[in-house]
Amino acid sequence: MNPRYQEVCAALRSRPRAWLVTGCAGFIGSNLLETLLDLDQTVVGLDNFSTGYRRNLDEVQRLVTPARWARFRFIEGDIRDLDTCREAVRGVEHVLHQAALGSVPRSLKDPITSNAVNVGGQLNMLVAARDEAVKSFVYAASSSTYGDHPGLPKVEDRIGKPLSPYAVTKYVNELYADVFARAYGFGTVGLRYFNVFGRRQDPDGAYAAVIPKWVSAMIRQEDVTINGDGETSRDFCFVDNVVQANLLAACAPPEGVNQVYNVAYNARTTLNQLFEHLRETLGRNGVSYARAPRHVDFRPGDVRHSQADIAKAGRLLGYAPTHDILQGLEVAMPWYTQFLR
Ligand SMILES: NC(=O)c1ccc[n+]([C@@H]2O[C@H](COP(=O)([O-])OP(=O)(O)OC[C@H]3O[C@@H](n4cnc5c(N)ncnc54)[C@H](O)[C@@H]3O)[C@@H](O)[C@H]2O)c1
Repeated sequence: MNPRYQEVCAALRSRPRAWLVTGCAGFIGSNLLETLLDLDQTVVGLDNFSTGYRRNLDEVQRLVTPARWARFRFIEGDIRDLDTCREAVRGVEHVLHQAALGSVPRSLKDPITSNAVNVGGQLNMLVAARDEAVKSFVYAASSSTYGDHPGLPKVEDRIGKPLSPYAVTKYVNELYADVFARAYGFGTVGLRYFNVFGRRQDPDGAYAAVIPKWVSAMIRQEDVTINGDGETSRDFCFVDNVVQANLLAACAPPEGVNQVYNVAYNARTTLNQLFEHLRETLGRNGVSYARAPRHVDFRPGDVRHSQADIAKAGRLLGYAPTHDILQGLEVAMPWYTQFLR
């Protein structure tokens, strides 16, 4: 564990705080919830189960002690409703805003709903949190904001034009956050996640992310489909690194607030390499997969290469990722093999 993160966890343990996690029934939100409860924090969770699941909350309940679970209160509700956001944030000190509709293809198919949830929902949360005078507000931004900027690795202040409605919504999140700092003196921290993976990431549905989708296909002995030639690359980030970044951001020193940070590992893995990593890791977990991948057309709206410079988060937040892609897959794979069989 990195020293700054250790320090933050110790401080939280010695004086537990009240948190709101929006999107707590989702992949990243449920991992945040689990860590916060393990640190003896009090947590309110808000989710409408549009892409999250009650089974994720049930799993967290099984993993934490009953005394810790008793410190969790769940509100089933929609961030598009301001009163619901106000109710959720009441008495809360730290907000981790994760609720949104992810997926570039989903936003291309239905930009109106993605915009209403991602932009309107975040604006409601900002207003509710500002009026409640919370101590910190951390929100999920996205690497998709780099859009068509060709530079590698991606540095926070050099972005291009968005390539999808989803990317627009995530960029607008940053613009609203910035305006809330300027206009109302309400500080926030934005975390631009890069291709997060790990336990409880949804393997099903048309909008599943590549790692759970492929793992699921391999376990079921179905075809794996690669969009394009497979040389498209991503900076895959294990969810524990993302949890660390959120807690560090919530406890950021003043100079770390009103900033946006890359949250990734700072490595690049091509889809072809990913396919082999998954095949090998699954093999070590008792699943052999002998088929070759099937290549189809490139997917519209996708960027070709992605890799993050993570120096800013290191410098201002003390972020130091603990898991590279292989270490993350090693931890995540037993969960997938158990869950998907
Ligand atoms: N997973 C990634 O690789 C990645 C990358 C960049 C950014 N992000 C962002 O991180 C956040 C979490 O993503 P995730 O991967 O955990 O996705 P997820 O779909 O598993 O979680 C999102 C959660 O938000 C909830 N939600 C959606 N609309 C809602 C609404 N109107 N009201 C209340 N709850 C609502 C869903 O039910 C779900 O539980 C999102 O903001 C996403 O845009 C994720």
